Order: sequence, then structure tokens, then C-alpha cells
Amino acid sequence: MSSHFVAGTLITRDQINTRIAELAEEIERDHPGGGQILLVGVLKGGFMFMADLIRFMTNRVAVDFIAVSSYGKGTKSSGEVRMLKDLDTSIEGRDVIIVEDIVDTGLTLTYLQEILKARNPRRITTACLLSKPSRRQVDVKVDYVGFEIDDHFVVGYGLDFDERYRNLPHIAVLGQG
Ligand code: IMP
Repeated sequence: MSSHFVAGTLITRDQINTRIAELAEEIERDHPGGGQILLVGVLKGGFMFMADLIRFMTNRVAVDFIAVSSYGKGTKSSGEVRMLKDLDTSIEGRDVIIVEDIVDTGLTLTYLQEILKARNPRRITTACLLSKPSRRQVDVKVDYVGFEIDDHFVVGYGLDFDERYRNLPHIAVLGQG
């Protein structure tokens, strides 16, 4: 059986902070008029990104959360997405932003965008802290991307491996030995 370890910092806490401030500014520029934005955080990985993003926003924002299954205990996607927790509120006629930790194959996000679009929001966009373009299996639109990264399995800043490492304040590469 192989073991895993945190190999090194890929993105520092400062880099994350600076980039999230820029994303918040971009989002607010794209949503003028002071109307309320509903941020939909995707659990569990997106919770830290969500918490930092809203602190840079000055618009009226509301938050809700949705949970979908991801990789379970491994580092490879099963390609199967399941809803574990739905939103508490209706999104009909609202300006919605999906807030996700990472887009890898794109299957999770495609599923989320499809089910939420079917509920007739006024507008729906997506913000992802990380994107691994080389791993994409479906062409999914991400409006706001924090960082594009190479094909590494990463942990920290909300992202886990088998429920570990979510508490790291930075993004680290998971090594295998
Ligand atoms: P996708 O459906 O393949 O795009 O995978 C998206 C989900 O898989 C994310 O929301 C994460 O929960 C998880 N995931 C993908 N890549 C990583 C990674 O490098 N580290 C931790 N979780 C990941």
C-alpha cells in the first residue's frame, strides 16, 4: 500500500489572498446595480474560499450551500456525481454564483450548473479557486478562475485527501511514496 505526504507549497496564503481580492473586484464589476448576489458554496472543499471571498465583497450577498459527492477516499474521479445536500432557498430570478474549490474533469461542475440552471435563476456564473485544464473531460464554463494548475493532486485551504489536510492555510501538492 502506498503512503501519502504533503510534498510542498504550490500556492501560498498570500498569493491566495491577493488573488481572491482580485476575483471579488471582478465579480462586483460584473454585477453592478447593488442587487443581491447569492453565493452557492459547494461543500465541503469550497468552504474556505467562500468564507474569504465574501469578506472582500461589498455588494449585498446572501449565501447558501450545496453538497455533492466527489472522490470519496481516492484521488481519481469516479465520474459519478450525487447530490448529498440541496440548497435551502429558491434561486428563481436571482443572480447566482457557484463557488467551488477546484475544477478537474469538469463533471461535478457540469452537473451543478445543469441542475441549478433548470431552476431559472436570472443569471448563473461560476467561481473556482483552482482549475486543472489538462484533466478536463467535459467543456465546462468557469467565469472566474483563481489559479490554473498542472495535473497535481492538491490539498489544503479546504481541499482534502480522505478528509485530511483541509486545515492547511495554503495549497500543497500531495506526494505519493
Ligand atoms: P471534477 O468533477 O473531476 O471536476 O472534480 C471536482 C471535485 O473533485 C472537486 O470539487 C474536489 O472535491 C475534487 N478534487 C478534484 N481534484 C482535486 C484535488 O487535486 N484535490 C482535492 N480534491 C480534488
